[in-house]
Amino acid sequence: MKPIHDKVLLAIETSCDETAAAVIGKNEYTVYSSAVASQIPLHAQWGGVVPAVASQQHVLAMNQVVRSALEEAELSPEDLEAVAVTVGPGLPGSLAVGISAAKALALGWSKPIVPVNHLMGHLFSAQLNGAVIEFPAVYLLVSGGHCMLFYAKEPGKYKLLGTTKDDSVGEAYDKVARELGFPYPGGPKLDRLAPSGKAVYPLPRPMLNSGYDFSFSGLKSSVRRVLDQEKEIDTADLTCSFVTACMEVLTTKLKRACDEYSPENAVVVGGVSASPILRELLSNDALGDTRVVFPSLKYATDNAAMIGAAGWWEYIHNGPSADTFAMMPRLALSTID
Ligand code: KG4
Ligand code: ZN
Repeated sequence: MKPIHDKVLLAIETSCDETAAAVIGKNEYTVYSSAVASQIPLHAQWGGVVPAVASQQHVLAMNQVVRSALEEAELSPEDLEAVAVTVGPGLPGSLAVGISAAKALALGWSKPIVPVNHLMGHLFSAQLNGAVIEFPAVYLLVSGGHCMLFYAKEPGKYKLLGTTKDDSVGEAYDKVARELGFPYPGGPKLDRLAPSGKAVYPLPRPMLNSGYDFSFSGLKSSVRRVLDQEKEIDTADLTCSFVTACMEVLTTKLKRACDEYSPENAVVVGGVSASPILRELLSNDALGDTRVVFPSLKYATDNAAMIGAAGWWEYIHNGPSADTFAMMPRLALSTID
């Protein structure tokens, strides 16, 4: 589908272990193409992401992924308005490859460059292809690196309500999956197994009863203790107990935020938002008058389409950047009080 009446930008994402490029329209953030080269099979042999291997793989895959994104959109570089790229947070070596590629392309094609915060990308992932978010909104960002709640009166203005004090929920999923002997990435596997078990193991619900902050490290350690202490473990039951505890914490905190702020929409984004269990728990009128919005499954986990949408927002509101920026591995989302 060639964009005739739309302006388009090329977005590049390499913050972790996906090499991704996408062509995104200014109008309704239409996705004209979204190419993702996953490195999962490569990292699986080590049981997790190996940073040096990830950067090397980004170098190998980058040109083909960019070529695919342009070909699928039936565009050539001169049709582009700008080049957007993830600047952080993420793995330093992985970010550096995407940023170097984006800078070289922007220079060679004489296009402006737009650095994009990866977290902002996730927040925009539910607005691709014309999906509308009504404000005020509450955002739950649940990924491998983050577990955060925000309140937003309008797009781009995020008030941080809470964050995790230790592990993110995705990280806890992946670590528990590893303890249970599942190959990397084990997170999605836990969701598939949980419905066949019963939540019979008494696991804690950290920080459940007050506030908006999270903690998942103690819950993860409790699973470890069960594995150490019990002679016979029912893996499906233990998985179900863990997933149930995680989901209860996430849905309780989100509901608390909706009760306090009465938002039009509750937007749930990040890799863990792909969870069918979380989607089911938040279906229908789970949050009363607040409508729950998820990104399409393929835009829940890391991709460049979401970076393109956030890139348009940045470009329109803050303009292009000088091309002297470097990667920011620990970049935070800028928030308001
Ligand atoms: O957003 P993402 O792709 O990368 C980061 O920015 O971190 O999130 C990756 C995380 C991993 O921890 C993975 O286990 C989790 O998302 N994840 C899931 C599912 N799919 C991915 N967790 C639960 N259920 C899923 N279906
Ligand atoms: Zn991510």
